[in-house]
Amino acid sequence: MKAVVYQKPYEITLQNVPDPEIKDSREMIVRVTTTCICGSDLHLLHGLYPHMPGGTLIGHEFMGIVEETGKNVKKWQKGDRVLVPFPIACGECEMCQAKLWTHCIRSNDKGEIGAAFGHGESYGGYAGGQAEYVRVPYADVSPIRIPDSLSDEQVIFLTDILPTAYWITDVCGVKPGDTVAVFGCGPVGLLAQRCAGFKGAERVIAVDQIPYRLDYAKRINSGVETINFQELDPGEVIQEMTKGRGANVVIDAVGLEAEPTNPLVAATVYAKRMGAPPLPGLRPEDNPPVASVSAINWEVEAIRHGGTLGLAGAYGAKAHSFPIGDIFAKGITIKGGQALVQTYLKELLGYIQKGKLRADDIITHRLSLNDAMDGYRKFGRREDNCVKVILHPNH
Ligand SMILES: NC(=O)c1ccc[n+]([C@@H]2O[C@H](COP(=O)([O-])OP(=O)(O)OC[C@H]3O[C@@H](n4cnc5c(N)ncnc54)[C@H](O)[C@@H]3O)[C@@H](O)[C@H]2O)c1
Ligand SMILES: [Zn+2]
Ligand SMILES: [Zn+2]
Repeated sequence: MKAVVYQKPYEITLQNVPDPEIKDSREMIVRVTTTCICGSDLHLLHGLYPHMPGGTLIGHEFMGIVEETGKNVKKWQKGDRVLVPFPIACGECEMCQAKLWTHCIRSNDKGEIGAAFGHGESYGGYAGGQAEYVRVPYADVSPIRIPDSLSDEQVIFLTDILPTAYWITDVCGVKPGDTVAVFGCGPVGLLAQRCAGFKGAERVIAVDQIPYRLDYAKRINSGVETINFQELDPGEVIQEMTKGRGANVVIDAVGLEAEPTNPLVAATVYAKRMGAPPLPGLRPEDNPPVASVSAINWEVEAIRHGGTLGLAGAYGAKAHSFPIGDIFAKGITIKGGQALVQTYLKELLGYIQKGKLRADDIITHRLSLNDAMDGYRKFGRREDNCVKVILHPNH
């Protein structure tokens, strides 16, 4: 089958690999009909995830049709239409019982976090979904059935970014009347802005530096106010906009490649740790900080005393200049982590069915899996007004 394969930092390929096979009686094979490229895939492409061996199949947002089931799979039959959330959970361990799906202690015997599709060895080493077929472990636990009345495009973001956006507004306690600032106007940020409005936030402020993405935020999330951090200091401006009080909740939908840090610098530091030669084109003065905390510094500045910071953006490396003193002084609560996707699937599917919430209007590029490299280029380089790329394998 065809699949997107990670080779080394800044190098992925589309190539033919063996079809997946069932290894455990509780697994199934899904034939992918739609898959997407995520901001997390960019971190991984830039060498920022540890333990990513060359040859890893990537992609963690996918849905499709059941092709084959292991003999102990009860819920599914060949031909069923299924959506697969990105976290892999056993459903039985104490963390899964507590609905802490992304902290499952059985699905990943290799790392300190629950498993996920297409995230390399530290997330369990499971092959990803930017492929024609995927092996889905614990098939009866997380995947959900999708009614024929809904298209792939209407539901595909239930695999990750819509529940992620909804979860972060939920765990941060966004409530009617709040002012919520969302840093990042990529797919996750745009949906977090929308979910904040959905939960009744009175003001939603969006921050980014890419003009077309700020315009997109205004266009699809009515009433959102925007700040371009190349023009204005968002920490200061949000304080002014809220009469010196700050936002009740600030959501980070940026992650560890926050500008202005050069991602190449961070990638090289990681590569060195992993024993790989440094990437070319760096000067000695381009040394750490490993992960940029530029966004987090602004975010903490923008929060009011007693407010909450929600880290939906992915962070991994030890970061310098982390504003721990301000977090202490303001009594800020921090929430974050890999989203508890499974918890919100039923509720969100219901909203989509009733037309109360949508996510498909962030799709800007619909490509064949054969054009995945083009999709990565456009999304990664922010070309062609790209916001979200979906890919369809041609079976
Ligand atoms: N927690 C989870 O379970 C989960 C799930 C999905 C994605 N993520 C993470 O969410 C983050 C965003 O994903 P995405 O798909 O929207 O990616 P993306 O790369 O398209 O979006 C990131 C946006 O942040 C902007 N940005 C950069 N520096 C900034 C700064 N200092 N202040 C404000 N904005 C800044 C970029 O211009 C870009 O538009 C990534 O870190 C991804 O790994 C986490
Ligand atoms: Zn994702
Ligand atoms: Zn578990």
